[in-house]
Amino acid sequence: MYNIALIPGDGIGPEVIREGKRIIDFASELNNVQINWVEFPFGAEHYLKKGELLPDSVLEEIKGMDAIYLGAVGDPQVKPGILEKEILLKIRFSLDQYINLRPIRLLQGIESPLRNKTFKNINFYVVRENTEDFYIGTGSSFKGKEYHSDHVIKRNLFQSNIQIDFQLDGEEEIGYQLGLLTRKGSDRIIRYAFELAEKKGLSKVSTVDKANVLSDMYGLWRRVFKDVSRDFPDISTDYYYVDAMTMLMVTNPERFQIVVTPNMFGDIITDLGAAIQGGIGIAASANINPEGISMFEPIHGSAPDIKNQGKANPIAAILAGAMMLDSLGETKIASTIENVTQEVLKEGKIKPIEFGGKASTSEIGDGIIKKLKKLLN
Ligand code: NAI
Ligand code: MG
Repeated sequence: MYNIALIPGDGIGPEVIREGKRIIDFASELNNVQINWVEFPFGAEHYLKKGELLPDSVLEEIKGMDAIYLGAVGDPQVKPGILEKEILLKIRFSLDQYINLRPIRLLQGIESPLRNKTFKNINFYVVRENTEDFYIGTGSSFKGKEYHSDHVIKRNLFQSNIQIDFQLDGEEEIGYQLGLLTRKGSDRIIRYAFELAEKKGLSKVSTVDKANVLSDMYGLWRRVFKDVSRDFPDISTDYYYVDAMTMLMVTNPERFQIVVTPNMFGDIITDLGAAIQGGIGIAASANINPEGISMFEPIHGSAPDIKNQGKANPIAAILAGAMMLDSLGETKIASTIENVTQEVLKEGKIKPIEFGGKASTSEIGDGIIKKLKKLLN
């Protein structure tokens, strides 16, 4: 039995999570596994009603559970940034979910915007570092005169203090943002990428960085990549600069198996990945702490424009659920859900509205459950 924190969130979050949850329940029961869902109301509606975001006491409670399954948060009535910072980022940072795992896989029955590319060409993982780089939350912008600041860098593996002095003329205005990588932070994510290659029976790990121009920070990254790769002699490696990577993801996506990359480049190339895999409604992701509690979610947001219309595609949420089961060690249940979802799309009778079809959110869920039931006979 597993205890899962369930945060459906806002907009289409609850609609897609409902489908994910019943498919997880059904497939788990088939395998005599029981899920105990502990539901939390956090999101825009709860915040507007109660003024509460994500209390520390709940975060403590979640630390005793097995995983988090999240829909999406965000609502036009709440100023952008509040829910993201106080719910999503709070979970990611306080649970030290240092890996963002993004499968980029074109399913059969889904068309890629890339001409002549099929499921045979687009099938790789992006392993994005999730805590460092330009996302340590350290920067400022200001105008005129002398400026002095103390930054305490909290969002990484060590706490350090940096002082910056600027002397500007008159009306000069500047903004800056600090990027920072540590050997420890790079080592643990790169090692995870190589271990994932072993676990999935893959033969190559590629690094994507910008070590040629931003050579201090990403030069460290590459040195760590080389060091870690020596511990995995059976896995080959290659090296890409992020600008070239964006071209290759469009022209030669078949080249990649596992891609490991620092935070900001990962942010950018995973959206490109979602596009080449056919659409936002099928892209799933995981925020992982292998030694702690991980969170699984579709990459899309709360899509207020299609809320309560039955138009949301639940497949991203369903596949995020499969990733959750996989990480809990329930690999058989996970692959059953993935295979059945793939079968339903390949058949083509149930086509999501997102792809010009007619199938509503719950009809897609129904179709998957129906196929799961057939496995029983
Ligand atoms: P979005 O991902 O919610 O929507 C972008 C477009 O994709 C919309 O046209 C939407 O209708 C469509 N779409 C999204 N998911 C879909 C699905 N499952 N099926 C069919 N169509 C789908 O991004 P947007 O509009 O920029 O943000 C809306 C809200 O969501 C904002 O408040 C934003 O802050 C929040 N957000 C939350 C995230 C999270 O909770 N992890 C991630 C991204 C955005
Ligand atoms: Mg993004």
